Amino acid sequence: MKTLSGFFAVLLAASGSPSLASDLTGNWAVKEALGDGTVRATYLNLKQEGAHITGAIRATQFYYRIVESTGGPDGFTLTGSMMDGNSERHVKYEGKLVGEELHLAGQRRPDAPVVEMTAHRVPAGEGAYPERRPLPALHKVADNALARTPPMGWNSWNKFAGRVDDAAVRGMADAMAANGMKDAGYVYVNIDDTWQGEREKNGNITTNKKFPDMKALADYVHSKGLKIGIYSSPGPNTCAGYEGSYGHEEQDAKTYAEWGIDYLKYDWCGARNLYKDEEMQAVYQIMGEALLKVGRPILYSLCQYGRAEVWKWGPEVGGNTSRTTGDIRDTWESMSKIGFAQDALAPYAAPGHWNDPDMLEIGNGGMNDDEYRTQMSLWSILAAPLLAGNDLRGMSPVILEILTNREVIAVNQDKAGKQGRRVAQSGEQEVWARPLADGGHAIGMFNRSAAPATVSVKSGELGLKASPKKGRDLWTHRDVTFNGAEYSVTVPSHGVVMLRVAE
Ligand code: GLA
Repeated sequence: MKTLSGFFAVLLAASGSPSLASDLTGNWAVKEALGDGTVRATYLNLKQEGAHITGAIRATQFYYRIVESTGGPDGFTLTGSMMDGNSERHVKYEGKLVGEELHLAGQRRPDAPVVEMTAHRVPAGEGAYPERRPLPALHKVADNALARTPPMGWNSWNKFAGRVDDAAVRGMADAMAANGMKDAGYVYVNIDDTWQGEREKNGNITTNKKFPDMKALADYVHSKGLKIGIYSSPGPNTCAGYEGSYGHEEQDAKTYAEWGIDYLKYDWCGARNLYKDEEMQAVYQIMGEALLKVGRPILYSLCQYGRAEVWKWGPEVGGNTSRTTGDIRDTWESMSKIGFAQDALAPYAAPGHWNDPDMLEIGNGGMNDDEYRTQMSLWSILAAPLLAGNDLRGMSPVILEILTNREVIAVNQDKAGKQGRRVAQSGEQEVWARPLADGGHAIGMFNRSAAPATVSVKSGELGLKASPKKGRDLWTHRDVTFNGAEYSVTVPSHGVVMLRVAE
């Protein structure tokens, strides 16, 4: 990896002659045309005062105040500190004025690669960060009557990230309708970040080249008997730097309804530069209200990484799901750390409002089948949304079987809507249980260790009136017999045995 000081040395060597440079003061932009027809701009609004450079830097969703600088037009360094007050995030640039151009090397984080770029002067005010708008007084947003059981479907982010396009979404809808997932209960086909284009003069949001006609795409997904979801941010920018809904909430909600959208994931990201965590409830209330006004049921999915105890106020803003964690990755460490940390949030889940420990990674290749069975089982016991995050076209039979295990899905979709809890733990072996509408329980016997282990459950731990005689193993689809008040079984490393027992 190139270091910043290495780049700086090259710049100085290349310059050779004394500087012709004038002042750095001005509004500078680096503009990169993306393949989807949008432009990613980084703005440096600089003011040179003697040996100091002050100002601000705006890069995708991030907004930084310049807190340190050295040098001047012949060679300078800038350090920007994020303006959200909650984060230690810094950005560093080195650069030099070369004729009318600003040659830059920037680093988003100390461990990020150095990116070289060229900035040009743009008119004052272009790219200026919007003003903070006043927030509404808090009140309860009416229930939209959706998500009486946890939402099930697919989301593009885990597998496709910025590569999602119209063809991929149609492909997922085709696959979901044909491969048994739809029959098993999967409904939503959700487009995550990077579908957005610019705003029209009247402020209407457009799609970028990857999505030539969102209404036609929604019609297509609906024609398969499925529903379609979309993604935005309460901030000016999304996490990937695309257009957010800030100041356009009602207008965007109307556009979504006109397109036929059924689900909105609303991701904090760019809002961090304008509002504090304590203000999230009011910020999320704005879109919750806006969605209710458009005359189309749109499931409202809050994504703010579990900050500000969202589980306590998510239902107040009309939220149907609340993300409780940072982003999941397709590794055992990430998935198990998130999944097994959800115990204390159980009291906050209920029909219409679910805790969301992030999407499924099942089938993405970073975990083995036992680990994927663990995610499916644990997420079902947690009454979590089941949003597949893999490529549904051409899955292996094992992965499809994990995603469509109806006995496990029946636990996830249980009408009582009670989130399960950890009922026993011994070292790396854990037993979780979820009370079900029929008076029975779903039981997850998990082994988090690197070797197979015996896991036991005692009926007393389940809060049942009597010891169960029989249970059903939801992965082998066989009945099992209980030996008195205890059931013991060998569980593979990182695996699970999931049972259902009657009252
Ligand atoms: C955040 C969210 C992810 C995904 C990306 C998209 O990181 O937590 O789930 O939506 O943004 O940019």
